[in-house]
Amino acid sequence: MQGLFITFEGGEGAGKSTQIARLAEHLRAQGHDVLVTREPGGSPGAEAVRHVILSGAAEPFGPAMEALLFAAARNDHVEQVMRPALRSGRMVLCDRYIDSSRVYQGVTGNLDPDLMRAIERSAINGLMPDLTIILDLPAEVGLQRANARRGEGTADRFEKETIDMHHRRRDAYLAIAKAEPDRCSVIAADRPAGEIAREIAALVDKLKVERRAIAQQPAEVAR
Ligand code: TYD
Repeated sequence: MQGLFITFEGGEGAGKSTQIARLAEHLRAQGHDVLVTREPGGSPGAEAVRHVILSGAAEPFGPAMEALLFAAARNDHVEQVMRPALRSGRMVLCDRYIDSSRVYQGVTGNLDPDLMRAIERSAINGLMPDLTIILDLPAEVGLQRANARRGEGTADRFEKETIDMHHRRRDAYLAIAKAEPDRCSVIAADRPAGEIAREIAALVDKLKVERRAIAQQPAEVAR
């Protein structure tokens, strides 16, 4: 049976990595083979592009250049790593995916929606997430957390931007969730990590039961 594809989204400091690790632990305890991966990156080709983007080397060439680079990295990651993993029945948990491009490049990069849709289609070739967890946090709280975590380290290309930009990104994520309620679940992220982890585990367990029920239906009903 095909594995489940779950993506995690949210602004800086929303706690994605903590929650991905907790969900991976939960699923492994149930006996699943889990792949934890991230974007930009996740395959050798995509990791090479990641460095170009996050160092800021592509920034002078504009948001369309960056959007295409994210998409090139995504296509490699999808075809080399994630689609094969899902086909072999693994659970794939990915830190950021299409919604990051929709929000960071499409909304705050002001790129043309038609261009963004075309880029997305060719990057993923139909590989939509079964579930997208949007960890939602007031922009100020997320930035404080990201700054604390970074300490003396330098901010990457996207962490340096203004608070207004972070507000717009939060709104954009919430708009995606509203437009695609079957795929997206918004989880309030300014709560204890254990509480959030339990909520996410319950969502995923429910989705597994639903998928199993669909797989077991006779062909005529399933259609
Ligand atoms: P990363 O260090 O992985 O940060 P985070 O912990 O916030 O996920 O950096 C990824 C950065 O790239 C992040 O600021 C979001 C940005 N990004 C985009 O702008 N578009 C995309 O499609 C993706 C996947 C990431």
